[in-house]
Amino acid sequence: MNILLGVTGGIAAYKSLLLTRLFVKAGYQVQVVMTAGAKEFIQPLSFQALSGNPVRDSLFDQNQEAGMGHIELARWADQIVIAPATAETIAKLRMGRAEDLLGTLCLVTDKPIMVVPAMNLLMWSNDATQENVSQLKQRGFDVLEPEEGEQACGDIGSGRMPEPQAIFDYVQQKIAQKAELEHLFLKGQSFWKDKRVLITAGPTFEDIDPVRFIGNRSSGKMGFALAEAAQKLGAIVTLISGPVQILPPPHIERVVDVRSADQMFSAVQKHYADSDYFISAAAVADFKIEHKLDKKLKKQAQETSFSLSLVQNVDIVAWVAQQKNRPFVIGFAAETDHVLDYAKEKLARKKLDAIIANEVGEGAKGFESDVNQVTLMTLNTVQTFAEASKKSLGFQLLSAIQELRSECVGSN
Ligand code: C5P
Repeated sequence: MNILLGVTGGIAAYKSLLLTRLFVKAGYQVQVVMTAGAKEFIQPLSFQALSGNPVRDSLFDQNQEAGMGHIELARWADQIVIAPATAETIAKLRMGRAEDLLGTLCLVTDKPIMVVPAMNLLMWSNDATQENVSQLKQRGFDVLEPEEGEQACGDIGSGRMPEPQAIFDYVQQKIAQKAELEHLFLKGQSFWKDKRVLITAGPTFEDIDPVRFIGNRSSGKMGFALAEAAQKLGAIVTLISGPVQILPPPHIERVVDVRSADQMFSAVQKHYADSDYFISAAAVADFKIEHKLDKKLKKQAQETSFSLSLVQNVDIVAWVAQQKNRPFVIGFAAETDHVLDYAKEKLARKKLDAIIANEVGEGAKGFESDVNQVTLMTLNTVQTFAEASKKSLGFQLLSAIQELRSECVGSN
């Protein structure tokens, strides 16, 4: 396993000497790339002595490039770790700048990049930095958040780089997770190839009038992650999405945009019979407005309260589960309390094959978050997953569904 350690210009750079030592002791090959700023804090020779490899610091050094060119160096790395990552480096990564060796390597690589920010607390909490970090996370960078504590400048707050052992443990954990996902991927490829998977995702909006609606906080991220995982595993995916703020994953066979539960139901009716699996991840509104208005509803003078008449929507997943020749049906149960009890009740009442329970609401992951913590249940089995990114859970859940199916087929 080859680690490319990027060191940028912050006082925490000294901690990366110990980090290098931990990697080397654990048997990793380490090559260090320093920015000009990093060399103001630490001598390259120290990293060279600890890593056993010459330090790379320039994009245009003919001698260095003669050994291993920057493209080769990017290919050589299995994992890139940037520690410490300054606010400047994070901003450059966000922009995709290629003006120095580290920036260029990060653009040339398709390997995972981990960023370990370290900076003054005000720099860290600045909107610009936070926005840059959030962009990087969305692009798939791993960000190990800084710790609270006393800073080199004397301030006390968030911005300190975690200790080398904590960074090392985090890297190990990420490498193990990636290996596990690769294993699931290899295991799932032949099973999911050409399986037709229908997925609903996101909220539904029930219009009251042309400007108002009743909606919910579902982001669509979990359903999209399942769609992405299924597509990558070779399945033919139809994704029916309520109104969301995120783009559907690329290369999905068919994406159908809907707004209301009725529209989602029509789309599902059109596609369920051609599907082997139906995963109902959408947070479908249980009720719609009885009489939708064509014109904007006006507030009446003296009005202190207001009532809306609602009528029930079709329970889409329960409807599919009742059909003859139906696909294997997996529902979701997003609950704020008694999560597993309610999920089990829904599984039985809606006659689903399996249900994925997750906690939502104040303080919980579930809605809007990039991570989730779920439990997959059938009438006889309960499988709890550790908290993980929704993207990773997409693969883990499909693998678990694969196991359920293999068991069913085996026992028939
Ligand atoms: O009953 P509840 O809404 O909590 O059930 C959640 C599950 O039922 C989810 O899988 C959701 O997609 C599905 N559902 C549905 N149609 C509805 C309401 C919920 O398909 N009208």
